[in-house]
Amino acid sequence: MGYKNILVDQEDHFGYITINRPKKLNALNKETIEELHLAFEDLDRDEQIRVIIITGSGEKAFVAGADIAEFSDFNKAEAFELAKKGQELLFDFVANLSTPVIAAVNGFALGGGLELAMASHIRVAGSNARMGLPEVSLGLIPGYGGTQRLPQLVGKGKAMEMIFTGAMVSAEDALNYGLVNHMVEPEALISFCEELALKISRNSPMAIKAAIKAINANFEDGVNGFETEIAAFGNCFGTDDFDEGTSAFMEKRKPEF
Ligand code: COA
Repeated sequence: MGYKNILVDQEDHFGYITINRPKKLNALNKETIEELHLAFEDLDRDEQIRVIIITGSGEKAFVAGADIAEFSDFNKAEAFELAKKGQELLFDFVANLSTPVIAAVNGFALGGGLELAMASHIRVAGSNARMGLPEVSLGLIPGYGGTQRLPQLVGKGKAMEMIFTGAMVSAEDALNYGLVNHMVEPEALISFCEELALKISRNSPMAIKAAIKAINANFEDGVNGFETEIAAFGNCFGTDDFDEGTSAFMEKRKPEF
């Protein structure tokens, strides 16, 4: 499928998505969000793909936010739709994808860029990355899940500070806050993500899908995460992956999922 704003690739069990608007620091316009939705959907459907790595093109930015030029003249109703549609198509979609998504944060991850990284399941930052939610400096607030996912990752106090000041934090601070899982040298960013992806891809995709669902249940209103876990645990039994995983253990060999 031909995309205008993103590059999609796959090799062995890994899918790669690169947001490719380097001249606009990979800012997310409507079309890019729609393309990202389709690319994630396609890779998620492909049973060969066990992990998706998302990054930004160029050396400067992962994503410098939602495209400000596109929404600058929106009225309240249009802005409401922008946030709602964006969350459905991309941010919630990624957070609930069955295939694990690793964000390789290779530079600025601001506004919608940080929100996309936070919607991903795992974040790895290059040491040159800078992250923040600067929306209040524009007279608005994060609209792609930032007010919800940032406190989940860093706690309410730090999230309030980051959102009220709009200040960028360094990769090192982000690591200390728990905003990213790892910080590595920029040159090693993708290979580090691939090593992580390799470890994940050796495990049961069915079980990982169930784990994503159960972990996310912890953050869903009105959902009992423990009950979700119990049901998902039960559903693993009797599956091919369960048979393979337990047989391999008994036979002292590595499982092949
Ligand atoms: N939306 C639209 N365009 C953006 C953008 C965004 N979020 N972020 C950067 N760009 C564009 C700039 O307008 C510029 O385009 P131009 O060359 O046509 O003028 C280009 O990307 C390069 O950005 P520039 O600002 O010149 O780079 P810089 O190195 O001086 O600054 C940043 C980098 C990230 C600090 C700065 O671009 C910035 O503050 N961007 C907006 C961040 C933001 O507020 N995001 C939240 C949006 S809700």
